[in-house]
Amino acid sequence: MSFEYTLHKESNNTKARLGEFSTPHGVIETPIFMPVGTQATVKTMTPEELEELGAQIILSNTYHLYLRPGHELIAEAGGLHEFMNWDRPILTDSGGFQVFSLADMRDISEEGVEFQSHLDGSKHFITPEKATEIQMDLGADIIMSFDECPPYPAEKDYVKESLERTTRWAKRCKEAHTRDDQALFGIIQGGMHRDLREQSAKEIIDLDFPGYALGGLSVGEANELMYEVLDYAPDLLPKNKPRYLMGVGTPQDLFEGVIRGIDMFDCVFPTRIARNGAVFTSQGRITIRNATYKRQFTKLDPECDCYVCNNYTRAYIRHLIKRNEVLGIRLTTYHNLYFLCSLMTKIREAISKGRLLEYQEEFYKKYGLDL
Ligand code: GUN
Ligand code: ZN
Repeated sequence: MSFEYTLHKESNNTKARLGEFSTPHGVIETPIFMPVGTQATVKTMTPEELEELGAQIILSNTYHLYLRPGHELIAEAGGLHEFMNWDRPILTDSGGFQVFSLADMRDISEEGVEFQSHLDGSKHFITPEKATEIQMDLGADIIMSFDECPPYPAEKDYVKESLERTTRWAKRCKEAHTRDDQALFGIIQGGMHRDLREQSAKEIIDLDFPGYALGGLSVGEANELMYEVLDYAPDLLPKNKPRYLMGVGTPQDLFEGVIRGIDMFDCVFPTRIARNGAVFTSQGRITIRNATYKRQFTKLDPECDCYVCNNYTRAYIRHLIKRNEVLGIRLTTYHNLYFLCSLMTKIREAISKGRLLEYQEEFYKKYGLDL
């Protein structure tokens, strides 16, 4: 099937790459940000709105959909695209990360992970084969290997043991995966240790996947430490395949990741903060609940031309959020996703024009970030 990564341009003074990845549900331009739709919905947004605000691909979660409504039901509906009425590309995460962060009790063995549902305490056993089978039922365009994301900090010996098991699991995922209309990506682990990242990258690349992710980052380590890992880890990956940094997505992280050679990002951050009434603006993040905004009959972001900014004021959206009106969080979600998707469009344009660092400097200055 039609999974092809085309590298259009490499930046001359950074490691940024401009490319395209083709999937059965269309082409995504990279670097790209993927909004998160954990429960087969990007919270409060219809698929039509997601298209309008510029989302090219969304992410959903195996763990949540396996528990409810169940992957069999989604298969019966014709797969995730049909079930949620989204006909652009979808990526599903394998559930590894969510099992480790959400489930109550987990018991990791070579065979897989036994855990108790965070919902009702029911017991489940997920193996690499099971995670792959669930993701084949869900039918996303891109699916992820079942991995272990070790906590941070963790003993180095444990991180090594864990990454070696993750390699064996990745091999089992590959063997279990039989749908040629899905691309199965490998995940590199290894924590914050350069030698372990090198080992993991070598082992996972030897298995030959159509794309590679860096996992185990943005797990509570300082920003600077993540950037240090990103200074070398993307270079361990082949140039002719997409590179995905899992669970990362503040505006700063997007710039810093792209500059170091990352092509794909996902994060709940923009949608989660939107539901708390926080919005991105070209001048930094603001909390719209604050009294400061009570009489500001202006756009959320003076420089934004999204549907929300063209039609509603800070004062109105503040009122909605304060009153817990659902429209409030719909509007802040729309604007935040538009902000990040159009930031990525501008980043791609800047790479294409050879002025990414200049654009980063302009953005940081206005946004209030230090270079
Ligand atoms: N999301 C964020 N980090 C990770 C990771 O390390 N593994 C997986 N599967 N998903 C993630
Ligand atoms: Zn806007």
